[in-house]
Amino acid sequence: MKDAAQRILEAAGQGGRVTVITGAGISAESGISTFRDSGGLWEENPIEEVATPEAFAANPSRVYDFYNARRAQLGTVEPNEGHRALVRLERLFGERFSLITQNVDDLHERAGAGRVLHMHGELYKARCVDCAGVVEWKEELSLADACGSCSGRMRPHIVWFGEIPFHLEKDIPAACNGCRVFFSIGTSGVVYPAAGLAGLVHAAGGLCVEVNLETSPGNPVFELQLEGPAGEVLPALADELESQSGC
Ligand code: OAD
Repeated sequence: MKDAAQRILEAAGQGGRVTVITGAGISAESGISTFRDSGGLWEENPIEEVATPEAFAANPSRVYDFYNARRAQLGTVEPNEGHRALVRLERLFGERFSLITQNVDDLHERAGAGRVLHMHGELYKARCVDCAGVVEWKEELSLADACGSCSGRMRPHIVWFGEIPFHLEKDIPAACNGCRVFFSIGTSGVVYPAAGLAGLVHAAGGLCVEVNLETSPGNPVFELQLEGPAGEVLPALADELESQSGC
């Protein structure tokens, strides 16, 4: 870990941007299922039944039920050491640090993260299908719920397959342009455009670091691979980064 931290600090330099993207793996140790691991969410809940605009049009109750269950479960779990270690990285790199997540949970925020770019939406928000107004939503959502402004139908504020992720116009490009160190944490890297961000940073000469239970050997994008549970790898890395930066 000592060498890894040294490489990261060298690559980041004095003013280099440090960007993190997280996936379901970082929340796994909190008790939230991933999507594609064995027993993952998509196994019992096929994407075409619960996570497309067509599914919502054909059978909204099935879609509401799926996200109601996710939302209810989120209320029963807590952030883990991986989420907390990223807050330490945010403190270390300050304004140069950006956190993008594919996760729809709020565990980064509850661990103390500052601004989090939720590119696939947020479980604790709902959106009006007609006026696109977004509101906080911690309860069950159903066909009976109407928009407070225009009475339109409310849907989960989640990016479904076939829809365009959030923050792609400005904030995600700003986090990736000129990025010197890019961390890809707990993601299978198969859903685009999220999966393509590391490649862009690598092509521009940034150091890409993969943190995963099972890293992807031979992937030329990730010059540094840290294998293991994020809840163990990230605190150890934060310890080293802090110690080598004299924090
Ligand atoms: P996946 O389920 O595809 O991948 C989870 C990754 O986390 C795998 O590579 C695991 O090896 C890794 N992993 C599991 N436990 C871990 C741990 N404790 N520490 C580190 N890594 C661990 O989830 P995502 O990559 O997040 O999109 O999936 C991307 C998107 O696909 C999701 O945002 C979701 C899904 O369809 C939408 O719903 C739009």
